[in-house]
Amino acid sequence: MEEEIKKDAQNMLTPFRYEHCVRTAKKAEELAIRWGYNPKIARIVGLAHDMAKDLKYEQYLQYAKENGISLSKEDELVKVHLHGIIAAKMCEKKYQFTKEMCDAIAYHTTARDNMTLLDKIIYVADKIEEGREYEGIEELRILAMQNLDEAILESIQYSIIKCIKQQKYIHSLSIIARNELLSKRSNKT
Ligand SMILES: [Fe+2]
Ligand SMILES: [Fe+2]
Repeated sequence: MEEEIKKDAQNMLTPFRYEHCVRTAKKAEELAIRWGYNPKIARIVGLAHDMAKDLKYEQYLQYAKENGISLSKEDELVKVHLHGIIAAKMCEKKYQFTKEMCDAIAYHTTARDNMTLLDKIIYVADKIEEGREYEGIEELRILAMQNLDEAILESIQYSIIKCIKQQKYIHSLSIIARNELLSKRSNKT
């Protein structure tokens, strides 16, 4: 299955995006080993997570319509979230990914409440893969190996702040995920 996904990803994505997927897969595998998840599944999901990223907005809407995916108004407004939802469906149909694998792809942009371990691994791997560069990423890479929830919280907050600065919509799932992680943290202290 992995070879087929690689081939499809190469066909569907620009070389730049494909390389990002390969690096995300590698990072997901590392995180899986660290946090006790099946490394092969994490790697495969990492490889496939951006499968739909190079499609156009109209193609997302069309695919959703043709495949019975109901998008909320909010999903449509937060355009960047759509590529995950569409890729999850593609992977379910084409490679028979399990629900757990599909969900990790569907929510890799927004995060969500009650994230599974695979959700967390894919969310963070995508943000800290070795090709990414932004202020604080080295600290985030270290944090992801020490405290996965804290790394997700940091990363969600970074994304929310970026959305505000760029006057972009913020998906409510990201706010919910942030609040949940914050409340877990305060329960511990
Ligand atoms: Fe993505
Ligand atoms: Fe990505």
